[in-house]
Amino acid sequence: MSAYRDEIKNAIRTVPDWPEPGVMFRDIMPLLQNRNAFRKLIDSFVHRYQNMQLDAIAAIDARGFILGAPLAYELGLSLVPVRKKGKLPFKTVTQSYDLEYGSATIELHTDAFKPGDRVLVMDDLIATGGTMLAACELVRKLQAEVVEVAAIIDLPDLKGGEKLRNAGFPVYAICEFD
Ligand code: PRP
Ligand code: HPA
Repeated sequence: MSAYRDEIKNAIRTVPDWPEPGVMFRDIMPLLQNRNAFRKLIDSFVHRYQNMQLDAIAAIDARGFILGAPLAYELGLSLVPVRKKGKLPFKTVTQSYDLEYGSATIELHTDAFKPGDRVLVMDDLIATGGTMLAACELVRKLQAEVVEVAAIIDLPDLKGGEKLRNAGFPVYAICEFD
């Protein structure tokens, strides 16, 4: 793995048995606190996406917001928060999905994208892929195009990346944890 990927991966903390026994929780808070690693993280996303003719970033509630906002700012793109149910005040489209632990519903405003907009969907981590897939389905419901889904971390054992690729969505993750 390249040096910047190592630095980013090494800044992520693993917390065993959280939020329940048996889960190895990959915690990005130390990565955000590490100014050098955080800068390399955002710069690496900027480098990847600067020539992809994107229109917008769909950033997933809540940790996706932290990544989507600096990237949208740096690339001059529209920032579209994908929110957990019940938070958006205007007309919405809604999608429910299963999580690694539990289930959830996410929403977008109906005017979040124009038909044909080229959209990057961002989150911190892909586990089962259910959250990303639901977000991609919301983008599609608004007739926009998912160019790629991006995360810091993929957990390949949970096959979320595979699920997304099989559904036709290209996946980019900076690092993986077994
Ligand atoms: C976590 C993580 C992803 C999702 C990944 O968010 O930030 O959004 O789970 O899991 P999946 O691939 O199995 O869908 P969580 O729902 O815990 O919400 P939070 O960001 O508000 O903590
Ligand atoms: N870390 C952070 N978020 C998560 C994880 C994890 O290991 N699994 C599911 N969501």
